[in-house]
Amino acid sequence: MTHTEIRKKFLDFFEKKGHTIVPSSSLLPDDPSVLFTTAGMQQFKPYYTGEADPMKDFGSLNTVSIQKSMRTSDIDEIGDESHLTFFEMLGNFSFGLKPNGSAKGGPSTLFKTSYFKKEAIEYAHKFITNEMGLTISHVSVFKGSSSTHSTKPQGGEPVESTSSGQATVPKDEESKKIWQSLGVSDIREEGMEDVFWGPTGNSGPCGPTTEIYCKNTQGQDVEIWNIVFNEFFCNGSREQLLSNKTKLTPLEKNGIDTGMGLERLVMIAQNTKSIFETALFSPILNLIPIEDTRIKRIITDHSRAIAFLITDGVRPSNKEQGYILRRLMRRVITYGQIHKMDLTIMHDIFAKIHEIYSPIYHDLDRNLIIHEFDNEKEKFEKTLKSGLKELAKIPVFDASGTFKIYESFGLPYEIIKELGGEKAKNLNREDFDKEFKKHQELSRAGIEKKFGGHGLLLDTGELKAADEQELKTVTKLHTATHMLQAALRKVLDGEVKQAGSDITAERLRFDFTFPRKMTNEEIKQVEDLINEAIKKDLPVTFKEMPLEEAQKSGALFFSKQKYPPVVKVYTVGPDPSTSSGPPFSRELCGGPHVTHTGEIGQFKIIREEAVSSGIRRVRAILKE
Ligand code: SER
Repeated sequence: MTHTEIRKKFLDFFEKKGHTIVPSSSLLPDDPSVLFTTAGMQQFKPYYTGEADPMKDFGSLNTVSIQKSMRTSDIDEIGDESHLTFFEMLGNFSFGLKPNGSAKGGPSTLFKTSYFKKEAIEYAHKFITNEMGLTISHVSVFKGSSSTHSTKPQGGEPVESTSSGQATVPKDEESKKIWQSLGVSDIREEGMEDVFWGPTGNSGPCGPTTEIYCKNTQGQDVEIWNIVFNEFFCNGSREQLLSNKTKLTPLEKNGIDTGMGLERLVMIAQNTKSIFETALFSPILNLIPIEDTRIKRIITDHSRAIAFLITDGVRPSNKEQGYILRRLMRRVITYGQIHKMDLTIMHDIFAKIHEIYSPIYHDLDRNLIIHEFDNEKEKFEKTLKSGLKELAKIPVFDASGTFKIYESFGLPYEIIKELGGEKAKNLNREDFDKEFKKHQELSRAGIEKKFGGHGLLLDTGELKAADEQELKTVTKLHTATHMLQAALRKVLDGEVKQAGSDITAERLRFDFTFPRKMTNEEIKQVEDLINEAIKKDLPVTFKEMPLEEAQKSGALFFSKQKYPPVVKVYTVGPDPSTSSGPPFSRELCGGPHVTHTGEIGQFKIIREEAVSSGIRRVRAILKE
């Protein structure tokens, strides 16, 4: 059975049972408390709590979907038979049955009838055994969070807590009976950690689950399907729930949320040893000219995630989703480098991913994915070699030392840990992440301290902006400052050097070395040069490179400033490596800048004066 047939079978099966087919939502959810969509239920959260009306939005109380999902929690497991970052989840959902109610009515009323445990388990059983022709090896049910204090929750009141404060949820006898009635005999009772779906993000619907397992070709049990009984609302995160730091409140209406990993189901259906040998993966994996199976699998997994993240609008950066994407890309690039794999093979890999998935996800843009990957590759390859050299010099890998390697050379944690081998045996992700957080908090604290915590958005010393509007203005003035330095060097003398710069939302102020007052004619020439370049709407681009290389490249830099080992070089005008003419300006800089000079408006010098002997100061403003 192909994945296309399985997809169709699943959607048809539930559509016939009164479910509306809903397309996958983006990998980037609306919910700001989560980075990625990790499950099919993410887009349906408000329907369980009553904030949204499923009848109005879907014409049914039940939906079915195949959801693109992304989980980074399993990233260290990738390379085994069944774990992934990006995957797809088949799911059926039901919103709105009052506690203790049951589904009534024939097929014509199915859309208006939600369901709970009995139907959810029966549907799943029927789909796996009848439709797929597979055998369920065992199932799990919830054993209760506290067997001594169990009480049935009553509508609206917070669930009783044990003396330790843990929410008490009773054992799921009902599911056990339903499974028995279907002839499943291997029923295992599990606890909160395994069979209780916690909320996604910092709050949400949740409840006990029952899981279905099937055997793989090696005879091991693989979890295929998770059926969640959404009976509660949790006011905290899953972590808080597991550490007894939050309480559960019964939901007004019970709901069903199920999730079945498509890739795992395909593996069982296609009788392969691992997901990577299925037709969803093997055409990609077989393109990778590396011996090591684990690394082949990691590159395959990461390439799929990269393709789908870019398609949903993520771009590599040092923050949030962009930081994850960057790490995935850099891991692939590093393996490529270490295993002497020509990375242009990634073009074929992305083309293959496109071939497999574009009939389902029409928005997959092969060229865009390749372009973004190549961009990151170009940036990272410059520092990777020095990073690897630096890494080899470290005697013991602790979190703060390795974080410095990440910060200076961009080497992702996964690579540092792996290449460190014995030397990195005490390094763990948690400590590394703590170091990352500490660093982010320090830079934030620095800004807040300086400005008394009045919400200053940006303070680089040179640029100050208190809100989004000001940020826009100082960004324009910042690019104008680069253009000013370049113009001064053209009009006055090539030896003009920056002596200081200060930008507020009102004006730029630029100090430079020059022995005398500028004439009115010279001021006019400088203004004209800049305004002509603005009119041409020149592109403003940047490249990251090691400091030494940047300084040697002829780009301007401010000698009084301390630069990090890897810097950005901003270019206004055509990039000298891609065009014959010299650019308008090239400078080492942290940004931010406009993307095109046309955004700047009109440039006007309002004052030229002396600061001290041999140092002049220009103030300039922008007009719309
Ligand atoms: N939300 C549950 C899961 O992701 C079932 O869909 O496992």
